[in-house]
Amino acid sequence: MNILILGSGGREHALAWKISKSPKINKLFVAPGNAGTSKIAQNISLDPNDFKSVKKIIIDNNINYLIVGAEEQLVNGIHDYLLNCKDLKNLKIIGTKKEGAKLEGSKEFSKKFMNKYNIPTAKYSAFDKENFEKGVEFLEKLKPPYVLKADGLAGGKGVLIIDNIEEAKTSLKEMLNGKFGKASEKVVIEEFLDGIEVSVFILTDGKNYKILPEAKDYKRIGEKDTGLNTGGMGAISPVDFVDENFLRKIEEKIIKRTINGLQKEKIEYQGFLFFGLINVKNEPYVIEYNVRMGDPETEVVMPRIKSDLMDLLEGVANKNLNEKFLEFEKSAVSTVILVSEGYPLSYEKGKEIKGFENVKDSIIFHSGTKIEKGKIISKGGRVLAITSFGKDKNEALKKSYKNSEIIKFENKFYRKDIGFDI
Ligand code: AMP
Ligand code: GLY
Repeated sequence: MNILILGSGGREHALAWKISKSPKINKLFVAPGNAGTSKIAQNISLDPNDFKSVKKIIIDNNINYLIVGAEEQLVNGIHDYLLNCKDLKNLKIIGTKKEGAKLEGSKEFSKKFMNKYNIPTAKYSAFDKENFEKGVEFLEKLKPPYVLKADGLAGGKGVLIIDNIEEAKTSLKEMLNGKFGKASEKVVIEEFLDGIEVSVFILTDGKNYKILPEAKDYKRIGEKDTGLNTGGMGAISPVDFVDENFLRKIEEKIIKRTINGLQKEKIEYQGFLFFGLINVKNEPYVIEYNVRMGDPETEVVMPRIKSDLMDLLEGVANKNLNEKFLEFEKSAVSTVILVSEGYPLSYEKGKEIKGFENVKDSIIFHSGTKIEKGKIISKGGRVLAITSFGKDKNEALKKSYKNSEIIKFENKFYRKDIGFDI
């Protein structure tokens, strides 16, 4: 089979790494990819939002499977677009159609869905510009901190958590007036949930599902989870507090009800589904759905999957996932993200990265890198994910941290407290 993975981050490198081990693969392509993916697959330069070009690449390279890495293309309907191309009848697509992508593409849609199917989540109400005054009244009824979310996709920046009521009202006004463009024409205001977050993933064919290893992401730039939100500064899997009992609650109250809801709504969903959860007094609540894998979570989840991922993806596409087998590695996996200093605000790019040959006991997944004149250079905020196995998380983290030092580039920064519960 010929496979095309769409995207260019650490998530796509980790997916490519796992898929490249499958005996079912003939050729593997990543578009546009990065310096890391170019070592294990063929990179194809392309804008993933240019669906016509994606189609051309699929035809030119006899692609059998397209795996869509990021939410943007799914929300914009890449699956529906390609499905309607008469000359692409045999293409299988891992990634939901537009209707299912609304679970991530519209916070209001996902909140309504969760309420309808009795899936535990924070209480909420949604407001547009005409209802600003009602929004203010709703805020006044809540206790601080106040959680304001742009309804649409806002590149991970659309959620504000504010302590002061007057500031919350001002922010509501600013959001409705276009602070996040079209994405915040509608704003979801919700109750603040106090707890610890965990990321849980499934692969589903729309009816059957497999629960993948869970992971914990460390989102803030600063240690002890302080400072600005980032795409994610590191991750571990497994997560200590996700024991059998807690996992059973997640499956019964969240996963099964979500799959049932999708079926009742006649939303065909084939692909990864990511539940952003929060543990409040040992009860799981959904903070958000994502219609893709997480980054950096994928960099710890993929190494923990022992089974052939391509075999599972065939099960997704052919709707017989129940006949497939998923086995996990018992070991713990950690990843530490090396970023360009200044991220998530402004930072310098174009720095040469050295030391790869001295790293013996970690897997290095690339995020923002490219090859220029034979050298690997940085081209993004998140640059590399230093991923390691261990008999427990401490052993894994020790290797990730040792190798985070060995890799050198100017203005390298990373958090030193990944893996500690916060
Ligand atoms: P989201 O984009 O919905 O995942 O929100 C981004 C981050 O804001 C989450 O990862 C949480 O850390 C935080 N957050 C969102 N909603 C809530 C909530 N209702 N209570 C507490 N924290 C929240
Ligand atoms: N690491 C969180 C996300 O991918 O959304």
